[in-house]
Amino acid sequence: MSTVPPTDGPRIDWEALRAAAREAMTHAYAPYSNFPVGAAALVDDGRTIVGCNVENASYGVTLCAECGLVSQLHISGGGHLVAFTCVDGHGNILMPCGRCRQLLYEHSAEGMLLETVSGIRTIDEVLPDAFGPRQLVAYAAEDAAEHND
Ligand code: THU
Repeated sequence: MSTVPPTDGPRIDWEALRAAAREAMTHAYAPYSNFPVGAAALVDDGRTIVGCNVENASYGVTLCAECGLVSQLHISGGGHLVAFTCVDGHGNILMPCGRCRQLLYEHSAEGMLLETVSGIRTIDEVLPDAFGPRQLVAYAAEDAAEHND
């Protein structure tokens, strides 16, 4: 799977994206963990979308900030994510959990960039050898080619 290196990617205003994530974090509903999270992403048409975590008395039902963000992606017109950041209650960069890396991958533009605790990384770096929609398309193409042999 080809990767767009960070230096060749779009020019991202990370400060503005982080500010949007920090504002979203102030809306978190996290009475159980007291760990509010805010996320913000840039969509391929230039929109900025946000999300915050929403916990539940049945803890496992908790929605991470990324869940709200992906819901907002679709409700506001769809598209693919080109840049993403996530912050904790102090406004510091937070790594998306494993499940949310998969969630973000599903909706990522190829070469999507993430602001991480170790700098700007691509989605392929934070979820190596991923399984997602692009892989399913590749498998389907392989199957079709085999059937045509
Ligand atoms: N959390 C997120 O919102 N996103 C992540 O990627 C990591 C974890 C939330 C879930 C829970 O409400 C709180 O952080 C503590 O785990």
